Amino acid sequence: MKKGCVFVKNIVVSLLFACISAFAQAPVADAAKTKEVALTEAEKFYGTELRSKAKVKHPPFEWGDCTTCHKDAKGGGALIMDPPELCAMCHEPKDGKKFIHGPVAAGACTTCHNPHESDNAKLLVSASINELCTSCHQDKGDFLKQTPNIHPPVKDQCTNCHDPHTEDHQFQLKADGKKDLCVMCHVDKEVWTKEVTDKHGALDRPRKCLECHDPHGSSNPKFLVKDTSKELCLTCHSQPVKTDETGETLADIGKHLDNNPDWHGPILWGDCAACHNPHGSNNLRMLKKPFPRTFYESFETDNYICFQCHEKEKIIDANTTTATNFRNGSSNMHFVHVDKEKGRSCRACHDFHGTKEYPHHLRAKTQFGKINFPIRFIETENGGSCAPACHARRHYDRVEPKVNLK
Ligand code: HEC
Ligand code: HEC
Ligand code: HEC
Ligand code: HEC
Ligand code: HEC
Ligand code: HEC
Ligand code: HEC
Ligand code: HEC
Ligand code: HEC
Ligand code: HEC
Ligand code: HEC
Repeated sequence: MKKGCVFVKNIVVSLLFACISAFAQAPVADAAKTKEVALTEAEKFYGTELRSKAKVKHPPFEWGDCTTCHKDAKGGGALIMDPPELCAMCHEPKDGKKFIHGPVAAGACTTCHNPHESDNAKLLVSASINELCTSCHQDKGDFLKQTPNIHPPVKDQCTNCHDPHTEDHQFQLKADGKKDLCVMCHVDKEVWTKEVTDKHGALDRPRKCLECHDPHGSSNPKFLVKDTSKELCLTCHSQPVKTDETGETLADIGKHLDNNPDWHGPILWGDCAACHNPHGSNNLRMLKKPFPRTFYESFETDNYICFQCHEKEKIIDANTTTATNFRNGSSNMHFVHVDKEKGRSCRACHDFHGTKEYPHHLRAKTQFGKINFPIRFIETENGGSCAPACHARRHYDRVEPKVNLK
């Protein structure tokens, strides 16, 4: 890379042009003699997909009448007019749309195209689009070399998304870069985000897909703009957020986690997306799998995302001495509370994000209708007890089963 003159910083454009064409042509001269072409460092990195087998000749140059473009019949020296007007004699002007690429607006067609001939397709001065673009956009060249996860179409060629000349979208993108461009290729996401019943308001924020993803790549999985999905989610969910569908206000999860330091496993790993689909879903709260919407719900294992990670025997084995610690002798108290026609969902007793007062992610208070009453859990050596508002204290003990009053 060091010797590739294209990477020298702040080089003047004309020098740059001479420099690129000099080293783009060198290997082909050798190729005539030897079949093995020694690639430059830049060519090894970027590839040579534009290299043509035969020299690419610009027809007006090949015709041999130099005065088509030059004042002097021998060529060289003054031009009959300067690009871009010169080129526009025969080519449609390249600045017809709303956003014009810097060098095109400056009429610097020949920084990218050789007006006579070239070893590369489209008379380009580089054998690779990405080498061409990064010869000026040095920061993007460094980015490509240093970033672990590059978005595949970016690694392939910049012109998958950017027009080199002019476009109606900012940054000369082929469609609006915040979403329309993405779903040109990720068609499934277009369909999914439109059709799910529980949509995510993040997609309606001004930067849409780019709220969460870097279009070029990043050090993080899935090109996320933050290290973990948790950090990403908390950029917006560290405040109460209003839902679009129902107008209800969602809890400030950042504050909840600050106040409740005993975090549930996936949150400890930093992965909110273990349970929630950031693009929305057909389940409550955009969960990846179903979870009951109400306090009481007829029990069905398929209705609980929890069983993606926890064994269902904890709930469905009526009698057990191993499947769960929530038992009175061998009578499974999970089964008693949950596995029935009018079963209580896990939220009656557990919080899924983080807790503080009690172990086992037992919540301090449970929401029942409009009332929010404390569960008053007390842990004992072999069991525990609780006393939610309207009930007398009930006990369970794994070694010496307790008899509770009805
Ligand atoms: C399609 C238009 C076109 C034709 C036809 C053309 N030239 Fe050029 N030529 C240019 C442009 C534009 C430049 C300026 C390049 C730049 O900006 O660096 C140029 C530059 C040159 C130069 C300066 C050195 C260089 O290569 O940059 C020479 C010499 C030259 N032309 C020779 C010729 C000869 C000889 C012919 C006829 C066989 C010819 N040209 C035909 C467009 C043309
Ligand atoms: C006198 C007419 C004429 C002028 C002036 C002219 N061109 Fe061309 N150019 C052509 C013709 C003819 C072709 C071949 C068209 C084709 O293959 O579709 C061509 C092809 C090209 C191509 C390759 C297109 C391809 O699909 O491979 C590029 C790039 C190009 N010209 C750039 C330029 C630039 C830059 C200028 C100004 C410096 C210029 N041309 C000036 C006539 C001209
Ligand atoms: C930043 C580099 C760059 C500049 C500056 C540039 N081009 Fe191009 N041009 C390209 C690339 C890259 C392609 C190939 C695009 C592709 O195949 O997707 C291309 C393709 C072309 C083509 C053939 C395909 C087409 O779009 O018709 C012509 C003709 C052309 N350019 C003319 C020009 C003219 C005239 C100018 C100056 C007004 C110019 N270019 C300035 C990079 C550039
Ligand atoms: C000859 C140098 C040069 C080459 C080669 C070049 N660019 Fe540029 N590019 C510029 C300049 C100059 C600007 C204008 C910078 C500005 O406005 O800040 C620019 C602007 C841009 C912008 C808009 C940036 C902004 O912040 O508005 C994009 C996107 C871009 N170029 C992409 C490309 C792509 C893709 C290629 C390869 C096809 C490429 N460039 C090749 C010089 C170049
Ligand atoms: C998958 C589509 C895609 C590809 C491929 C792509 N870009 Fe971009 N690029 C974008 C989007 C989207 C934006 C707008 C980002 C924003 O709004 O923050 C952008 C913005 C830019 C900008 C201006 C803002 C910035 O980040 O500096 C430059 C310069 C740029 N791209 C250069 C390149 C270069 C060079 C390549 C090839 C190495 C490339 N892009 C490949 C989608 C792409
Ligand atoms: C030109 C087509 C194209 C465009 C435009 C495009 N992508 Fe991609 N994207 C791909 C391809 C190809 C892959 C790799 C194959 C795959 O995993 O689907 C990919 C992969 C991804 C991945 C990682 C997938 C995984 O499972 O690891 C994410 C995230 C992504 N793209 C987001 C975006 C976003 C956001 C945009 C808009 C800024 C976008 N893409 C625009 C083609 C595209
Ligand atoms: C709220 C943040 C956020 C927004 C907005 C967002 N994504 Fe994602 N995206 C993610 C996260 C987090 C993942 C990783 C998901 C996982 O681990 O299951 C992801 C994964 C992906 C993947 C990889 C395949 C998959 O589904 O896991 C693609 C492709 C993708 N996103 C494209 C898009 C596109 C296109 C848009 C805009 C329509 C978009 N994303 C909007 C956060 C977001
Ligand atoms: C760019 C801001 C933003 C980011 C980042 C973000 N969200 Fe959201 N989220 C919102 C907004 C705004 C709403 C409220 C609108 C709606 O969806 O109803 C919301 C709603 C939600 C809802 C409730 C959806 C419903 O309607 O029931 C959940 C659950 C959620 N987000 C989880 C996440 C997760 C998990 C992440 C990280 C992968 C995340 N959010 C990242 C802005 C964001
Ligand atoms: C173990 C699975 C799981 C993980 C991991 C998880 N959540 Fe949740 N989340 C849920 C469940 C289940 C609900 C529904 C709770 C209910 O309705 O009682 C929920 C509800 C929500 C809500 C709606 C809150 C409200 O006021 O109704 C938001 C916002 C949310 N989660 C964001 C996050 C964020 C941010 C993360 C990461 C820090 C995260 N979740 C991690 C399971 C999870
Ligand atoms: C009526 C309250 C209640 C309900 C409803 C409830 N749990 Fe529990 N759960 C407990 C108690 C109390 C413990 C602590 C047992 C102990 O260690 O003493 C517990 C413990 C657990 C444990 C720790 C391991 C174990 O089994 O001892 C998991 C995992 C668990 N519950 C998952 C669930 C899931 C999944 C649901 C919903 C399908 C659920 N719980 C419903 C009260 C409840
Ligand atoms: C993506 C995997 C995953 C999902 C889905 C999941 N959990 Fe967990 N859960 C864990 C991990 C890992 C632990 C152990 C770390 C800890 O104590 O948080 C755990 C621990 C627990 C504990 C405490 C165990 C103890 O003995 O202290 C309870 C209670 C619990 N989960 C309930 C639930 C409920 C209820 C659901 C469904 C809403 C659920 N989990 C969904 C991974 C998951």
